[in-house]
Amino acid sequence: MIKMQLNTVKNGMIIGEDIYNNYDVLIIASGTVITDKIFQQIERLGLDEVHIIEKDVNGDNQIVIIKDDIQNLYENTVESFKNLFNSIKFGKQIISEEVEEILAPMLMEVKHNPSLAKKLWQIEACDEYTYDHSVTVSMASALLGKWMNMTDKQINELAIAGLLHDIGKCNIPDEILKKPDRLTDEEFKVMKTHATLGYLLVKNSKDLSNEIIEGVYQHHEKFDGNGYPNKLVGEDIHIYGRLIAIADVYSAMTSNRVYRKKMSPFLVAKLVTEYSFGYLDPVAVNIFLQNVGNFYVGTLVKLNNGMIGQVVMVNKLDPYRPLVKVNNDYIDLSKHYEIEIDSLID
Ligand SMILES: [Fe+2]
Ligand SMILES: [Fe+2]
Repeated sequence: MIKMQLNTVKNGMIIGEDIYNNYDVLIIASGTVITDKIFQQIERLGLDEVHIIEKDVNGDNQIVIIKDDIQNLYENTVESFKNLFNSIKFGKQIISEEVEEILAPMLMEVKHNPSLAKKLWQIEACDEYTYDHSVTVSMASALLGKWMNMTDKQINELAIAGLLHDIGKCNIPDEILKKPDRLTDEEFKVMKTHATLGYLLVKNSKDLSNEIIEGVYQHHEKFDGNGYPNKLVGEDIHIYGRLIAIADVYSAMTSNRVYRKKMSPFLVAKLVTEYSFGYLDPVAVNIFLQNVGNFYVGTLVKLNNGMIGQVVMVNKLDPYRPLVKVNNDYIDLSKHYEIEIDSLID
C-alpha cells in the first residue's frame, strides 16, 4: 500500500484504508475503486493524501482478484473440501497439511484483499449446503480474526477450524443431513451430536493444534451457557469457538436454504445482533458487524417502503441502520425504525 497525493490518483485505483469523516462515520470503505464521484467525496473531506493499494486495476501490479475470480477460487475450495469431507467419511485421517493446502489461496485473499468481505456475501453457492457452508464459515472466521487483529498463525488456525467445524456431519446419516424439511426432535438430537463427532475426528487427526480442536468442539456453545455439548459459559468458550459461532450464524442466514430466501446482509446483521444477546460474544459481534457494514457503503438498496436508495454512510454504533440517499433526500435509518433495507441491488 502506498500513500499518494490526491492530485496524482486516477480512476481505477483502489483505496487501501477506510476513510471516516469528523464524526467518525465511515464515508469510503477500503477496497473502493476510485471514480469521479469518489474522487469528489475525498476532496470534500478535505484530504490531500490517500492510501492506495495498487496502481491500476488492470495494470501489471494487480494483486487483488476481481469478483469472477473470487467465485472461481471459492468453487475450487468447495470442490477440494467436498473431496476431503468424503474421504474422511470413509475413514481417512485428517492431515493438517492437506487442509492448509486447500485453504492457502483463499487465505491469501483474506489477508491481502480488502474488499473480500463484500464479495464474500455475493458469492453464489455451488454445491450441497454443508460444503458451501463450511467454506463460507472458514472465510468469515478468518476475516473476523483479521478484524480482531489476530496474528497470522491465529488467522490460519481459525480458517482451518472454520472449515472443519461441521466435519462431524460426515458421520450423520444422509436422511437427516440432507432432509429438506424441518427435523423432528429425535432427528435434531442426532444432528446435534455432530459437534462431539467432529471433536473426535479432529482429535484423532495428525498435528492439528489444541486450539483448532477446541474451536471445532465448542462452535455450538452459547455465551449464556445454554449451548452444547458442554454448556460452557462466556469466556470459558475458546475464542475460536466464539468466532466460528458468529460466522456460522451469519453464513446460515445469508445462504440460499431450500426453505428460506436469501436475506439482505443488513437484515441478517439485525438478526445477528438480536440473536447475540446472551448467545454470541457481544464484543466480537460488534467488530464483525461494523466491518461487514462498512463494505456496503455505495451499494444500491431496496427499502421496505418500495423506494430505492444508496447507502452513503455506516454508523459505527448501529452498523445495520446506515444513512441512505433516496433521490435528493437522506434517510437516517437509525432514526427511522419503521424503514428497513429489504434487499441489495447489484
Ligand atoms: Fe455445527
Ligand atoms: Fe455450521
